[in-house]
Amino acid sequence: MQSNRFDIIIIGAGVIGHSIAFRLLRAEPGLKLAVLGDPVNSLMASRAAAGMLAPYCECDRADRFFDFCRTSLSLYPAFVQELQKISRVKVTLSMAGSIMPYKSVEDQWENRLAFFRDQNIPHEVWPENDVRQRLPYLAADCGPVLWVEEGQVNNRCLHDALVAASRELGACLIDADVTGFVHDTTQVGGVVTASGEYFADRFVLATGSWSSQLAEALGVSLPLKPVKGQMCRLQVEDNRLPYTVHGFLTYIAPWREGNGFVVGSTMEDDGFNPVVQEEVIQGLIADAAEILPCLAEAPVIESWSGLRPAAADRMPVMGKSARYANLFYSTGHYRNGILQTPHQADYMSATLLGTLKEPVPEFSPARYGL
Ligand code: GLY
Repeated sequence: MQSNRFDIIIIGAGVIGHSIAFRLLRAEPGLKLAVLGDPVNSLMASRAAAGMLAPYCECDRADRFFDFCRTSLSLYPAFVQELQKISRVKVTLSMAGSIMPYKSVEDQWENRLAFFRDQNIPHEVWPENDVRQRLPYLAADCGPVLWVEEGQVNNRCLHDALVAASRELGACLIDADVTGFVHDTTQVGGVVTASGEYFADRFVLATGSWSSQLAEALGVSLPLKPVKGQMCRLQVEDNRLPYTVHGFLTYIAPWREGNGFVVGSTMEDDGFNPVVQEEVIQGLIADAAEILPCLAEAPVIESWSGLRPAAADRMPVMGKSARYANLFYSTGHYRNGILQTPHQADYMSATLLGTLKEPVPEFSPARYGL
């Protein structure tokens, strides 16, 4: 019979929760660890992302968040290699880079270039006639292109691999929604689910957009809400574009290996409403086809919506609770959860094991009195 008592319970079965389990079990194989979560939630988060590993295209300020994301990008190749070895699941990762055509950024072009130069970010400017040679399928009026050294991962394979690795390393995976906690004023004792109560010495809350509801059940207020994104995946041959394209609120992410291109995405304050609107998807495709015309006629494989967990200050919430001695948070990864996964896993496992040298105050749960 499965025991309901663990050393650590991680609440949240997405890439964040499973990557913490992966790192902890690699560091301390004897840990009795459970990952608890409703797999349906991952469909709206870890599995709904586009998988862009884009600290340079997504950030415009050299703050602690940018540093964190940049380090995470650098950790990706070794992280994926280790993960594939343990999980025996192939994870499609490309470090070919991203492009920003002039046409898709226009008045941001100079700012972007200045930021890349100031931060010593590996980049190149490809003049217009070069672009025709290198990227023959790009729209002829794209202008010059800014290339930057970033990555792209198939986040669904990443999630599959992390789940398989957790299982392989001995984590107990429990498909259950947490509805409440057993706690006093300073300690969490257990979690309540429809399939019973589970107890542990330490707990990690890694539940993305659902984190504020669980914080409420613990009597604390976490200012975090979902920011919805609608997106789709189109069937286009891999050779049409080897890079991820970034534009103003528009992107085209090649999933490679015959999996087509993901086109995104909206930014909507619409609660947990998962509705996908056909006219919105058609608008995204039309915008993307301005850059890559073959997308206009491409078959739509699927369309979906995802929920980005956005804290009020748009920073992640990672670290030890200021309220409960045995509670830890890793949530609020907003637009860059997939990118932050490897560094976040190191950061959180070191926090739990008491070996973290430099906690980042900007990420601390204490900033919200959590
Ligand atoms: N990182 C892309 C997005 O959140 O849509």
